[in-house]
Amino acid sequence: MVDILDKAMRSHDLDKCEIVRLLSIDDGVQQEVLFKAADETRQQYLGTDVHLRGLIEFSNYCMNDCMYCGIRRGNRTLERYRIQPDEVIKVAAQAYRLGYRTIVLQSGEDGYYTGDVMCYIIRGIKEAADVAITLSIGERSYDDYKRMKEAGADRYLMRFETSNRELYKKLHPRMDFDNRIQCLKDIKSLGYELGSGFLVGLPGQTVEDIADDILLLKELGADMVGIGPFIPHPDTPLRSCNSGSLDMVLKAVAVLRLIMPDINIPATTAVGTSDPFGRQKALKAGANVIMPNVTPLEYRQLYQLYPGKICIGENPQDCRICVEGLIRSVGRTVGTGYGGHNG
Ligand code: 5AD
Ligand code: FES
Repeated sequence: MVDILDKAMRSHDLDKCEIVRLLSIDDGVQQEVLFKAADETRQQYLGTDVHLRGLIEFSNYCMNDCMYCGIRRGNRTLERYRIQPDEVIKVAAQAYRLGYRTIVLQSGEDGYYTGDVMCYIIRGIKEAADVAITLSIGERSYDDYKRMKEAGADRYLMRFETSNRELYKKLHPRMDFDNRIQCLKDIKSLGYELGSGFLVGLPGQTVEDIADDILLLKELGADMVGIGPFIPHPDTPLRSCNSGSLDMVLKAVAVLRLIMPDINIPATTAVGTSDPFGRQKALKAGANVIMPNVTPLEYRQLYQLYPGKICIGENPQDCRICVEGLIRSVGRTVGTGYGGHNG
């Protein structure tokens, strides 16, 4: 293993076989060596800053039916909400006042927010606050992506969820893997910073699949990568499946840091949900970003992609204070700039 780590730290290049070997480490001591190598790489390329993103979950309507997701259209028990455009702008301005310099606008795939409506929100936020804007609203037309970029959006997050086509098909009825990858390429070519990622522990997923996921992120030239454990939601078809392993997520984060040394990698909310110290562990295994929730309290419990999601009862101010403490507890500093991949 040490030879693979040496190679990774020198060349930031590993083949599938080598990645599988690192992901297959099951010895606790060896895992720590892997995490340490990733942590050193993060320190060397990015220093101690942890960048914060204020996440606004502005609509839980979704026209898709992803088998794992709590807000899938097939979940008829869920009460749906939409935060109106002017209120989204207000929430973003509040997040700016709490110190956030990146706002992430996330929703289900909701046609109510047309390209025009999104451009209105983006322009409004840019007028009200000096922030970078990240969109996370799913698959759209090339024209929408282009217009939203022109309106001022800076970055775009959309996970491909799994690079295994068969598995993708089973989990995403009526969706098309190739279209999703095309969207990601379009987003990148339009000049957005591109965020993507995948789920760990999907039923039927293998360690080879995860190695392929990592290699696909490198091929796409992702600027930021979110990796989270699958957590079964009781109101979805996958309710009785097992959760993804936190250790596997941490190993994937570490390998990714080794081969993409300067990208942004969040310690995801799902990682914080699967283990009370999950985010701290991720920050020590290569991660350098946290995305605290700034969604108004009354909507939070309605945006449960998975059960047990942390911060459901906290308001934006609580989360801000909490994560600053968390960051300091692992010897890191809170980033003050936009914290993009390119500055
Ligand atoms: N468990 C973990 N993560 C989930 N997501 C959706 N449903 C779940 C679940 N049950 C993730 C997907 C999506 C992101 C916004 O949330 O990866 O891209
Ligand atoms: Fe929300 Fe800790 S980040 S309570």
